[in-house]
Amino acid sequence: MAKKANFLKQFWQEKKMVGAMSPSSKYLANLMLKNIDFKKARVLIELGPGTGVFTKRILELMPTDAKLLVFELNDTFFKNLSEEIHDNRMILIHDSAEHIQKYLNENGLIHADYIISSLPLANFPNKLKTAILDASYEAMVNNGKYVQFQYSLNSRKNLEDRFESVHISFTPLNFPPAFVYTCLKNK
Ligand SMILES: C[S@@+](CC[C@H](N)C(=O)[O-])C[C@H]1O[C@@H](n2cnc3c(N)ncnc32)[C@H](O)[C@@H]1O
Repeated sequence: MAKKANFLKQFWQEKKMVGAMSPSSKYLANLMLKNIDFKKARVLIELGPGTGVFTKRILELMPTDAKLLVFELNDTFFKNLSEEIHDNRMILIHDSAEHIQKYLNENGLIHADYIISSLPLANFPNKLKTAILDASYEAMVNNGKYVQFQYSLNSRKNLEDRFESVHISFTPLNFPPAFVYTCLKNK
Protein backbone atom coordinates (compact mmCIF):
# COMPACT_ATOMS: atom_id res chain seq x y z
CA MET A 1 0.00 0.00 0.00
CA ALA A 2 2.83 2.39 0.93
CA LYS A 3 4.36 1.73 -2.49
CA LYS A 4 1.12 2.56 -4.29
CA ALA A 5 0.76 5.79 -2.30
CA ASN A 6 4.36 6.74 -3.01
CA PHE A 7 3.89 6.02 -6.71
CA LEU A 8 0.78 8.19 -6.83
CA LYS A 9 2.65 11.03 -5.09
CA GLN A 10 5.45 10.88 -7.67
CA PHE A 11 2.82 10.81 -10.41
CA TRP A 12 1.23 14.05 -9.16
CA GLN A 13 4.61 15.72 -8.85
CA GLU A 14 6.00 14.60 -12.21
CA LYS A 15 3.06 13.43 -14.32
CA LYS A 16 4.76 13.29 -17.71
CA MET A 17 7.91 11.61 -16.49
CA VAL A 18 6.20 8.97 -14.31
CA GLY A 19 3.33 8.37 -16.74
CA ALA A 20 1.28 5.99 -14.53
CA MET A 21 -0.79 6.26 -11.35
CA SER A 22 0.22 2.92 -9.87
CA PRO A 23 2.96 0.32 -10.22
CA SER A 24 2.49 -2.37 -12.88
CA SER A 25 0.74 -5.65 -12.03
CA LYS A 26 2.43 -9.05 -11.80
CA TYR A 27 0.50 -10.02 -14.96
CA LEU A 28 2.13 -7.21 -16.90
CA ALA A 29 5.50 -8.14 -15.39
CA ASN A 30 5.05 -11.74 -16.60
CA LEU A 31 4.09 -10.61 -20.10
CA MET A 32 7.06 -8.22 -20.28
CA LEU A 33 9.53 -10.92 -19.29
CA LYS A 34 7.94 -13.86 -21.13
CA ASN A 35 10.13 -13.67 -24.25
CA ILE A 36 13.42 -13.20 -22.47
CA ASP A 37 15.76 -16.16 -22.54
CA PHE A 38 17.24 -15.62 -19.09
CA LYS A 39 19.65 -18.54 -19.42
CA LYS A 40 21.42 -16.76 -22.26
CA ALA A 41 21.20 -13.20 -20.90
CA ARG A 42 24.54 -11.73 -19.86
CA VAL A 43 23.77 -7.99 -19.95
CA LEU A 44 20.27 -6.63 -19.34
CA ILE A 45 19.14 -3.02 -19.11
CA GLU A 46 16.01 -1.75 -17.43
CA LEU A 47 14.70 1.75 -18.25
CA GLY A 48 12.31 3.36 -15.74
CA PRO A 49 12.04 0.86 -12.85
CA GLY A 50 9.84 3.08 -10.61
CA THR A 51 9.26 1.05 -7.42
CA GLY A 52 11.09 -1.94 -8.90
CA VAL A 53 8.24 -4.35 -9.79
CA PHE A 54 10.10 -5.63 -12.85
CA THR A 55 13.58 -5.14 -11.35
CA LYS A 56 12.99 -7.62 -8.54
CA ARG A 57 11.57 -10.24 -10.90
CA ILE A 58 14.45 -9.78 -13.36
CA LEU A 59 16.96 -10.27 -10.54
CA GLU A 60 15.16 -13.48 -9.50
CA LEU A 61 15.33 -14.88 -13.01
CA MET A 62 18.71 -13.72 -14.33
CA PRO A 63 21.93 -15.75 -14.06
CA THR A 64 24.28 -15.21 -11.13
CA ASP A 65 27.04 -13.91 -13.43
CA ALA A 66 24.88 -11.49 -15.48
CA LYS A 67 24.67 -7.70 -15.05
CA LEU A 68 21.58 -5.49 -14.90
CA LEU A 69 21.96 -1.76 -15.60
CA VAL A 70 18.96 0.15 -14.26
CA PHE A 71 18.23 3.77 -15.30
CA GLU A 72 15.91 5.81 -13.07
CA LEU A 73 15.67 9.59 -13.40
CA ASN A 74 13.22 10.32 -10.57
CA ASP A 75 15.04 11.23 -7.32
CA THR A 76 12.62 9.49 -4.94
CA PHE A 77 12.36 6.24 -6.91
CA PHE A 78 16.15 6.19 -7.31
CA LYS A 79 16.75 6.70 -3.58
CA ASN A 80 14.18 4.08 -2.55
CA LEU A 81 15.57 1.50 -4.95
CA SER A 82 19.13 2.11 -3.79
CA GLU A 83 18.02 1.55 -0.17
CA GLU A 84 15.82 -1.45 -0.89
CA ILE A 85 17.72 -3.61 -3.39
CA HIS A 86 21.18 -4.89 -2.53
CA ASP A 87 22.42 -7.12 -5.30
CA ASN A 88 25.89 -6.81 -6.77
CA ARG A 89 24.61 -7.80 -10.22
CA MET A 90 22.58 -4.57 -10.36
CA ILE A 91 24.13 -1.23 -11.36
CA LEU A 92 21.64 1.48 -10.45
CA ILE A 93 22.07 4.68 -12.48
CA HIS A 94 20.54 8.05 -11.64
CA ASP A 95 20.51 9.41 -15.16
CA SER A 96 18.34 9.56 -18.24
CA ALA A 97 17.96 6.56 -20.52
CA GLU A 98 19.55 8.12 -23.61
CA HIS A 99 22.98 7.85 -21.91
CA ILE A 100 23.09 4.05 -22.05
CA GLN A 101 26.35 3.85 -23.99
CA LYS A 102 28.26 5.96 -21.48
CA TYR A 103 27.36 3.56 -18.65
CA LEU A 104 28.03 0.41 -20.68
CA ASN A 105 31.52 1.80 -21.40
CA GLU A 106 32.13 2.83 -17.79
CA ASN A 107 31.30 -0.69 -16.65
CA GLY A 108 33.41 -2.44 -19.28
CA LEU A 109 30.36 -3.82 -21.08
CA ILE A 110 29.90 -3.80 -24.85
CA HIS A 111 26.31 -4.68 -25.69
CA ALA A 112 23.01 -5.46 -24.02
CA ASP A 113 21.17 -8.70 -24.78
CA TYR A 114 17.85 -7.29 -23.57
CA ILE A 115 16.40 -3.85 -22.81
CA ILE A 116 13.23 -3.79 -20.71
CA SER A 117 11.58 -0.38 -20.84
CA SER A 118 8.66 1.12 -18.91
CA LEU A 119 9.37 4.65 -20.13
CA PRO A 120 6.22 6.64 -20.91
CA LEU A 121 7.32 7.27 -24.52
CA ALA A 122 3.95 8.72 -25.50
CA ASN A 123 4.56 11.62 -23.07
CA PHE A 124 8.05 12.44 -24.31
CA PRO A 125 8.99 15.17 -26.78
CA ASN A 126 10.05 13.66 -30.11
CA LYS A 127 13.69 14.58 -29.64
CA LEU A 128 13.98 12.67 -26.35
CA LYS A 129 12.01 9.67 -27.67
CA THR A 130 14.28 9.46 -30.73
CA ALA A 131 17.45 9.82 -28.64
CA ILE A 132 16.38 7.01 -26.27
CA LEU A 133 15.31 4.63 -29.04
CA ASP A 134 18.50 5.32 -31.04
CA ALA A 135 20.68 4.77 -27.97
CA SER A 136 18.80 1.55 -27.15
CA TYR A 137 19.14 0.17 -30.67
CA GLU A 138 22.87 1.01 -30.79
CA ALA A 139 23.48 -0.58 -27.39
CA MET A 140 21.87 -3.89 -28.34
CA VAL A 141 23.59 -7.00 -29.60
CA ASN A 142 22.37 -8.32 -32.95
CA ASN A 143 19.33 -10.55 -32.27
CA GLY A 144 18.80 -8.74 -28.97
CA LYS A 145 15.30 -7.72 -27.86
CA TYR A 146 13.85 -4.41 -26.69
CA VAL A 147 10.65 -4.95 -24.67
CA GLN A 148 8.46 -1.92 -23.99
CA PHE A 149 5.01 -1.51 -22.45
CA GLN A 150 2.64 1.35 -23.25
CA TYR A 151 -1.01 2.13 -22.56
CA SER A 152 -1.70 2.89 -26.23
CA LEU A 153 -0.48 2.07 -29.72
CA ASN A 154 0.83 5.60 -30.04
CA SER A 155 4.52 4.61 -30.28
CA ARG A 156 3.98 1.71 -32.66
CA LYS A 157 5.36 3.54 -35.70
CA ASN A 158 8.46 4.76 -33.83
CA LEU A 159 9.28 1.20 -32.88
CA GLU A 160 8.42 -0.34 -36.26
CA ASP A 161 10.57 2.26 -38.05
CA ARG A 162 13.57 1.36 -35.97
CA PHE A 163 13.46 -2.38 -35.23
CA GLU A 164 13.49 -5.16 -37.81
CA SER A 165 10.47 -6.85 -36.23
CA VAL A 166 7.87 -5.78 -33.68
CA HIS A 167 5.37 -8.11 -32.01
CA ILE A 168 2.52 -6.61 -29.97
CA SER A 169 0.66 -8.34 -27.14
CA PHE A 170 -1.90 -7.03 -24.67
CA THR A 171 -3.04 -7.58 -21.10
CA PRO A 172 -6.28 -6.26 -19.59
CA LEU A 173 -4.92 -7.35 -16.18
CA ASN A 174 -3.20 -4.09 -15.36
CA PHE A 175 -4.36 -0.60 -14.47
CA PRO A 176 -4.55 0.78 -17.10
CA PRO A 177 -4.58 -2.23 -19.47
CA ALA A 178 -1.31 -2.35 -21.40
CA PHE A 179 0.26 -3.26 -24.72
CA VAL A 180 3.67 -4.96 -24.74
CA TYR A 181 5.93 -4.42 -27.74
CA THR A 182 8.65 -7.03 -28.22
CA CYS A 183 11.12 -5.62 -30.73
CA LEU A 184 13.92 -7.55 -32.39
CA LYS A 185 17.16 -6.08 -33.67
CA ASN A 186 18.22 -8.18 -36.64
CA LYS A 187 20.56 -6.17 -38.88
C1 LIG B 1 5.29 4.19 -16.04
S1 LIG B 1 6.55 4.33 -14.79
C2 LIG B 1 6.95 2.61 -14.68
C3 LIG B 1 7.48 2.15 -13.37
C4 LIG B 1 7.63 0.62 -13.18
N1 LIG B 1 8.54 0.03 -14.13
C5 LIG B 1 6.30 -0.08 -13.29
O1 LIG B 1 6.04 -0.70 -14.33
O2 LIG B 1 5.52 0.00 -12.32
C6 LIG B 1 7.89 5.06 -15.74
C7 LIG B 1 9.22 5.23 -15.01
O3 LIG B 1 10.18 5.79 -15.92
C8 LIG B 1 10.99 6.76 -15.22
N2 LIG B 1 11.58 7.67 -16.23
C9 LIG B 1 10.92 8.61 -16.95
N3 LIG B 1 11.75 9.22 -17.82
C10 LIG B 1 12.97 8.62 -17.67
C11 LIG B 1 14.22 8.77 -18.33
N4 LIG B 1 14.38 9.67 -19.29
N5 LIG B 1 15.25 7.97 -17.95
C12 LIG B 1 15.07 7.04 -16.95
N6 LIG B 1 13.91 6.85 -16.30
C13 LIG B 1 12.86 7.62 -16.64
C14 LIG B 1 9.99 7.41 -14.27
O4 LIG B 1 10.61 8.10 -13.23
C15 LIG B 1 9.19 6.18 -13.82
O5 LIG B 1 9.82 5.55 -12.73
